[in-house]
Order: sequence, then C-alpha cells, then structure tokens
Amino acid sequence: MFEPLLAPARYKGVYGGRGSGKSHFFGELLVETCQAERGTLAVCIREAQRTLAQSSKRLIESKIASLGLGHQFKLFSDKIETPGDGLIIFRGMQDHTADSIKSLEGFKIAWVDEAQSLSAHSLALLRPTIRAKESELWASWNPRRKSDAIDDFLRARKPDGALVINASWRDNGWNCIVSDTTENLASANNFIKAGYRLYQPQYPWGWPRTLYWRKSIVGKESE
Ligand SMILES: Nc1ncnc2c1ncn2[C@@H]1O[C@H](COP(=O)(O)OP(=O)(O)OP(=O)(O)O)[C@@H](O)[C@H]1O
Ligand SMILES: [Mg+2]
Repeated sequence: MFEPLLAPARYKGVYGGRGSGKSHFFGELLVETCQAERGTLAVCIREAQRTLAQSSKRLIESKIASLGLGHQFKLFSDKIETPGDGLIIFRGMQDHTADSIKSLEGFKIAWVDEAQSLSAHSLALLRPTIRAKESELWASWNPRRKSDAIDDFLRARKPDGALVINASWRDNGWNCIVSDTTENLASANNFIKAGYRLYQPQYPWGWPRTLYWRKSIVGKESE
C-alpha cells in the first residue's frame, strides 16, 4: 500500500492511526535509500528530541539489522554512517534556531516522524533548509487537528507533486470483498442476495465462464 511513495517526490507524507506502520515504512525506505544511493545525507527530525531515545535511531538500527546490512552501516552513539560516506543524524527542531538550522543545508532527506507535533514555525524553517537538488521532505503523522501544521500543509493544501497516503487499513486498497463463481447459478444467486455485484477484474484469474463478484466493505462503492 505504500508503493506510490517509492517514486521520487519533493514531499512524501503518510498519515494514519496508531500502529498503522508509518514509522516502519519510512525507516525501511530510509535505510534502503542510503544503501542504494551512496553518500546520502539524511536527518531524522522530531519537534522535540531531548534524548536520542526519543528519535528514530533505534528503529533505523533495527531496520539495518533486519535487512542484513549491518556490515555496510556504522553505528555510533549519535549518528549512523551509511555507505559511501553518507550519514544519518537525529535532531529536534526545538534545539534549532533560524541560524543553526542552516547546518542541515545539503541534506538530501529529512524525515519528520510524529509530525503532528511539528510547529508551523519549525515547518517554515525546515522547508527552505532542505533544498538540495532532488532533496525530499518526508513526514509521518497521526492526525489530531486540522490546524496542525503538517496536516494543513500536506493534506489540506497538498503542494504540487506531493505524495501523501493514508496508512490506515480502510484506505489500503482493501475496500471490498471479492469472490467468483463458475457455472454455478445457485451460488451466483446467493452472492446477489448478499449484496454482491458483478464486475470485471483487470486480470481475471478464473476460467473463461467465471463470473466475478464483489461487495464494498467501506462506505459507497466507487464505481
Ligand atoms: N514493515 C514492517 N516490518 C515489521 N513490522 C512492522 C512493519 N510495519 C509495521 N510493523 C509492526 O507494526 C507495529 C506498528 O508499526 P509502526 O510503529 O510503524 O506504526 P506507526 O504507524 O508509526 O504507529 P504510531 O502512530 O503509534 O507511531 C510495529 O511495532 C511493528 O510490530
Ligand atoms: Mg510511529
């Protein structure tokens, strides 16, 4: 379901409820990107990060291990060295001023997790800072209020070229139940009674005379 986010984009956003896989997705994408593109400079950002325990460092370390890339990455207490002289660092926006944020210029990826906490001021500092060629700003968040800066920016205003998806199950593409019948009138009638409708799948998996049925499980069916 996160597939659209594998393409390059200036802004990538994933929002959704607790435990919907947002952090794991970006953590893994970050490790894979650092491996594929040597020398990548990346920064993992929180609005407030008093200690590294409040950062994405541990998740990223676990992704490096589970992807079997331990020999290519070097773990330090406060940073991770990535293949080809790249680097992943961890920063809290509240520790930065308009001046100190400039140290992040040249970074190719900035990933803000728990981005619902990102203040409008922090977002305004970050956007012009992460401006290296082909740089990307990633945000994962758990929606709280429409007025939250990240929600307003990536959901309400959604800038051109932004890729934003909802990680919650309702929007992961599984919005209907699908079944099929082949030369079985009784069974077909049962599907009709149960509210299923005929449809033509893009890639039919049955026999030439198979009928395909589906029933929406969320709201109204879109077609
Ligand atoms: N790609 C994955 N590989 C392994 N486990 C995963 C993966 N995605 C999700 N999980 C499991 O689902 C749990 C929740 O995922 P994750 O922490 O990424 O959710 P989240 O959307 O960031 O939640 P929160 O809003 O609470 O931060 C993880 O603790 C993990 O057990
Ligand atoms: Mg998370």
